[in-house]
Amino acid sequence: IFDNSFNASKAVAKEIAKLIELKQSQNQHCVLGLATGSTPKGVYSELVRMHKNEGLSFKNVISFNLDEYYPMNPDSVHSYVHFMKKLLFDHVDIKPENIHIPDGTLVKEKISEYCNNYESKIESLGGIDLQLLGIGGNGHIGFNESGSLQNSKTRLVALDHITRVAASKEFSGLSNTPRTAITLGVKKIMEAKRVILMAWGEGKSNIIKASVEGPVTNQVPASFLQEHNNTTFVLDESSSSELT
Ligand code: F6R
Repeated sequence: IFDNSFNASKAVAKEIAKLIELKQSQNQHCVLGLATGSTPKGVYSELVRMHKNEGLSFKNVISFNLDEYYPMNPDSVHSYVHFMKKLLFDHVDIKPENIHIPDGTLVKEKISEYCNNYESKIESLGGIDLQLLGIGGNGHIGFNESGSLQNSKTRLVALDHITRVAASKEFSGLSNTPRTAITLGVKKIMEAKRVILMAWGEGKSNIIKASVEGPVTNQVPASFLQEHNNTTFVLDESSSSELT
């Protein structure tokens, strides 16, 4: 628990940078699982700062984003491709071929094969070294909404009403907000060697309590992380305020 999200984000960025540099010193790639949304913005700006001012290089980083809306054109300002470029990828030296974000332009019939390949690629690289997560108001991780199973695979999902309402501000209204998305499944998240879930603000305090202190249940997918052996919830004062 940090006094504010700024300091918390700096600490998370520092851990990521350390891992990237450790892997570099061993001549290995570093597989990062990345999230979008408002929560990781401070981490990305700190990583960009470290690249610009401290020489942190992303040349050995291979990234896999958690999710993308479906359907979604990568050129749209609403796409997670746009988000990641604007906040991180356009400002660091990651190789374009090392960036993976679920493809929102696929024809429906191709999605399941695409998702299997997304997972195979992660496996062939030895799995995710560090997975960054936010959390939805309903406890979703990635877009694994309530009801997602612990062994769920990467797939096309229907977004919960609460998730769409949260996203609707960006899409100027609920009727323009996508109903479906492609998400990395819970299983691959649980297989990550290290997981950092971040949450800021009072609005997340109830779901943080349910995830950390409540039962492990698929009604709150973040609660699955209680059974992960290397997960840290990084919180600010307000998001942790309901914890006993
Ligand atoms: C985004 C993602 C989602 C968000 C969550 C919280 O890639 O996978 O699970 O992390 O919806 O969103 P924010 O950070 O906007 O509160």
